Amino acid sequence: MATTSLKVRASSYNPEMDEAERASRDEIIALQTRRLKWSLAHAYENVAHYRKAFDKAGVHPSDFEELSDLAKFPFTSKTDLRENYPFNMFAVPREKLVRVHASSGTTGKPIVVGYTKADIATWSSVMARSIRAAGGRAGMIIHNAYGYGLFTGGLGVHYGAEELGCTVVPISGGMTERQVQLINDFRPDIITVTPSYMLAILDEFKRQGLDPRKSSLKIGIFGAEPWTNAMRAEIEDAFDMDATDIYGLSEVIGPGVAQECVETKDGLHIWEDHFYPEVIDPETGKVLPDGEKGELVFTSLTKEAFPVIRYRTRDLTRLLPGTARPGMRRMEKVTGRSDDMIILRGVNLFPTQIEEVLLATDWCGGHFILELTRDGRMDELTIIAESRPESWDGRGLVEHAERITAHIKNTIGITAKVKAVAPETLERSLGKAKRVYDKRPKG
Ligand code: DLL
Repeated sequence: MATTSLKVRASSYNPEMDEAERASRDEIIALQTRRLKWSLAHAYENVAHYRKAFDKAGVHPSDFEELSDLAKFPFTSKTDLRENYPFNMFAVPREKLVRVHASSGTTGKPIVVGYTKADIATWSSVMARSIRAAGGRAGMIIHNAYGYGLFTGGLGVHYGAEELGCTVVPISGGMTERQVQLINDFRPDIITVTPSYMLAILDEFKRQGLDPRKSSLKIGIFGAEPWTNAMRAEIEDAFDMDATDIYGLSEVIGPGVAQECVETKDGLHIWEDHFYPEVIDPETGKVLPDGEKGELVFTSLTKEAFPVIRYRTRDLTRLLPGTARPGMRRMEKVTGRSDDMIILRGVNLFPTQIEEVLLATDWCGGHFILELTRDGRMDELTIIAESRPESWDGRGLVEHAERITAHIKNTIGITAKVKAVAPETLERSLGKAKRVYDKRPKG
């Protein structure tokens, strides 16, 4: 079994961490091995899909003895989940579910996930741990602007915040003017929201003539969509706060699968006592060594209602050794989903790369969309970037656009058109931002 030498016993500097956060790498590996054995058997015995898939691949849960044996087991894809819509992936009778959530697919039916009482307790505990890792503490007020409903963001954060002992303001997304009013009146310490909607809240602060740096907010927990360190700097500076990244997906549990620790802000620690990560080559399915970039795959270790075995997330990242929590590995900030990758005249491109370039100019504050069109046989990319109100004088835009075009050519190597637009031109998302509009003819 692989071991990682530990320089720091994290418990020495953060007494509030729980037992798993203080565990050594060896202890985590031993725990994962025990739990994986259980999870594989649980899925095989109780979910027809897993029994069929394991049998077809010629593997049985008893073939699992150590972590590297997991590679013998088949992957689970989004299509597998869709084909079992709505309730056929559950490993417990429907009566045992206390809640369902669903993720809206871009096409076809949503994916439905479910939780037993014990699953909700697990989820609350990893979410409470995430909020604490971001700097949150019992007694703080948390303004939760993730959407409530079938989306896991709102309720996931809500239960974790209550578990930690915070006072939750369950405002959900939307009604931006009211968001700002309640931030001013209730004086929350923490805000939880998508980074793109945080920018809309920032705009509203300015519109109301309020100084965001003087707001009560000290901690931001941002996720549900890719965002860059450039965006972190933008938000931290605007609000004078600590911004950390939270990752999760409905299929694995919701938010709280991985969280950046405020003391290091160096990628997200995966809560490996509940979720086992692998990174694979998306083409061949081969497991890649830590440090190499590929598609993130998760196996749940403790979930009762909706176990997932080697679930392919389509998110691209790499695994790194633990720092603030030495027993658990980190994942690098997600660059994007393989589905969001634009291939433009042979060059692979993610919207996050454009975000970085735009924020490097002090002219654009982070509102942008990408439009793909086809002119004859040539694919064209147009970046529609919004000016900051303070940079907008109605003139000089051509020059800005030209400068950004040149910067993109030099850094990413593609020729894109840049259309600079006035403040408040682009539609604001209330949750996850839609960045790419593909207007190319189909087929
Ligand atoms: O977005 C859960 C969540 C809610 C996470 C609130 C964080 C905060 P889904 O709607 O199922 O669940 O979408 C999951 O969103 O596979 C990623 O592609 C993307 N995603 C989530 N967090 C991040 C992040 C929630 N921090 C999908 N960075 C995932 C980049 C993220 N992408």
